[in-house]
Amino acid sequence: MRLTIRLVAAIWLSALVVIGAFAFLQIREERERLVDDLKRRAVLVGEGLKEAIEPVVARGSTAGVERILKKFSTARRGIAVYDRLGGVMVATPDVAPILPPSLPEVTSAIARNVVSQGFRIAGDRQVYVYATPLVREDRPVGALAVILDAEHLAAAEWDLWRANGVRFLALALIVSVIALVVVRGTITRPMAKMSEWTKGLRAGRYAPPPEVPDADLFGPLAMEVAKLARSMQRAHATAEQEAALRLSGETIWTEERLKQFVNLRLGGRLLVVVSNREPVSHVRQGRQVHARTPASGLVTAMDPMMRACGGVWVAHGSGDADRETADARGRLGVPEDDPRYTLRRVWLSREEEQGYYYGFANEGLWPLCHIVHTRPVFRPDDWAYYAEVNRKFAETVLEEIRDAEEPLVLIQDYHFAPLPALIKAERPDARVAIFWHIPWPNFEAFGICPWQRELLSGMLGADLIGFHTQYYCNNFLETVDRTMETRIDWEHFAVTRGERATSVKPFPISVAPEFVDDPPRRTREELLGELGISAEFLGVGVERIDYTKGLPERIRALQWFFERYPEYRERLVFVQLAAPSRSTIPRYAELQREVEEAVREVNQALQTRSWRPILYLERHHEHRDIWPYYRHADFCMVTSLHDGMNLVAKEFVSVRDDGDGVLILSRFAGASYELRDALIVNPYDLAGTAEAIRAAVEMPADERRARMARMRHAVREHNIYWWAGLLLNELARIPAAPAGARAP
Ligand code: F6P
Repeated sequence: MRLTIRLVAAIWLSALVVIGAFAFLQIREERERLVDDLKRRAVLVGEGLKEAIEPVVARGSTAGVERILKKFSTARRGIAVYDRLGGVMVATPDVAPILPPSLPEVTSAIARNVVSQGFRIAGDRQVYVYATPLVREDRPVGALAVILDAEHLAAAEWDLWRANGVRFLALALIVSVIALVVVRGTITRPMAKMSEWTKGLRAGRYAPPPEVPDADLFGPLAMEVAKLARSMQRAHATAEQEAALRLSGETIWTEERLKQFVNLRLGGRLLVVVSNREPVSHVRQGRQVHARTPASGLVTAMDPMMRACGGVWVAHGSGDADRETADARGRLGVPEDDPRYTLRRVWLSREEEQGYYYGFANEGLWPLCHIVHTRPVFRPDDWAYYAEVNRKFAETVLEEIRDAEEPLVLIQDYHFAPLPALIKAERPDARVAIFWHIPWPNFEAFGICPWQRELLSGMLGADLIGFHTQYYCNNFLETVDRTMETRIDWEHFAVTRGERATSVKPFPISVAPEFVDDPPRRTREELLGELGISAEFLGVGVERIDYTKGLPERIRALQWFFERYPEYRERLVFVQLAAPSRSTIPRYAELQREVEEAVREVNQALQTRSWRPILYLERHHEHRDIWPYYRHADFCMVTSLHDGMNLVAKEFVSVRDDGDGVLILSRFAGASYELRDALIVNPYDLAGTAEAIRAAVEMPADERRARMARMRHAVREHNIYWWAGLLLNELARIPAAPAGARAP
């Protein structure tokens, strides 16, 4: 309120000063105009009369003067004629009674023989006196005074002051009302909302900051408070979680526990993670830059780990606005609103990205390792770029660890097979691990890669190689055994090459217990309303559009289901969230078309006026957007033809804090080894998958809940913090390299 009063007072004062100054100037101008007018009239009369009256006055003929004056006298002007001594000879009747005995203008005109003029009070009125000397043979013989009424000057002045006063009041009033409305809309109300919001935060009701109309004014403040609130909320949740775990005597890995473990076990050693995909990319949409979490299981898993451990994450800066959102070295804090680790972006040319990422990694190694009948393509140029980009990443990592003692370097995935050896060659003291997120095929399949020896040799530069399952570890060891001069220790799962030993172990990757920090908590009805559908049963699939995910097979299985069980038509809707991926590779572009076509065909064949069996949402979805689908679906389908682990399955389970929902899971996904309570299917078997859909929707609530409880227990126990603890513990245990030992 005080602010409003001060603002209104300031407005009134400014209006007063401005209008006062303008009024003053206007009145001065008006007065000058009126005075000029008086003068002009007085001169006209005075000088007109003067010639006629001069000889008469010289003769001293009062009667002659009276005669002349009679002719000239009007009600609006008075005339008086004075003799040589300044005494009144004759005056017109209207001024005669009010004339003072002497008029200074008249005296001055006679004495100095010049015209003299000015304002006087005559009687009770203001008059204008114009006195001109009457001359005979160059000597003044008297004076003629024209006396004009000047009362209207004061009246005009007063009128102007009054008009400006009204103007001031109107202006001040209007501006004040506008100011009040603006202040209420942009300051008072948003402030009230913000204070309601912060009160809620204090009471533990976390909500995103309210929408404020002036983002420039309140945006930064809201952002800062939101950061503070998120930190508080996190600390609060962590404390609650730890207390609950202590009470129940559970030893679940949490973010806090991993933090403590890292502090104790690593004792301040630097942790560097390397991956092709970055945890956040900045993309331009119109004139705005958006931070986007890529659709990547790797990111879903590694980001919570990095938030707990801190350190540096080196990754390809692939967003079109990535350069402008990082510093000159490509570094930025993540998360941006509450940085807990550093992202170091590596810049690649278009050719490098094409050859290394699209070419060798995704047209060569990806189909090589996933046995899904897409033929790998190995081009020498792609290999050259792959090797070159690995060297570039090695330089960046070496720069980041330059001043760190015995740093830990955790390399991710098939994009970086040569990297462990490149780093170890320069920094034998670093403990290097590579985690392979995709399957490792049998040695015959891997053997078709022309650079298999180089890839294996690079990987064996690591101290530790991780896969999701023991099965992939065995495939890898067998491949090494058949390809290279090494000693395999099948008891301890290690490879010795020269003086160097590399452990090969399974670390089934997982997700954080909280899929998102602040889930949108939309109800099922709200979600269906937003989608514009009504459904008794809701199924969901969440995928990158990749031929390993079995999307066409899933769509056919759904068609089979609706044909075999028509009673579910108009009752069940399947929502497929599909993120376009690697679209410049022809096989991916072709698959995208194939999936769209399959969805169209099924919908056209089955849809009715009010129902479509499949809702296909082909675009990028942030985790917060996906949450309601997981949470409200009756079943989730993960039907990969081959998948290292598949974190969608674990994400679905982790979101189901209502204890309900059924997971249909491919037996060819690594997750099927852990999530035994899913309905396990062979995705190539359409009828079998359709049967699983029916079983999912008809499963009794008790059974659904029992299965989900067991799966949630598995995901809770073996979460990403557990995974990171296991892997880092293994890595930190590796003894220092013997002096002079180099990577092979
Ligand atoms: O499985 C390998 C992997 O790197 C996953 O971690 C991730 O889901 C996917 O590939 C992402 O692919 P890309 O980074 O090429 O979009």
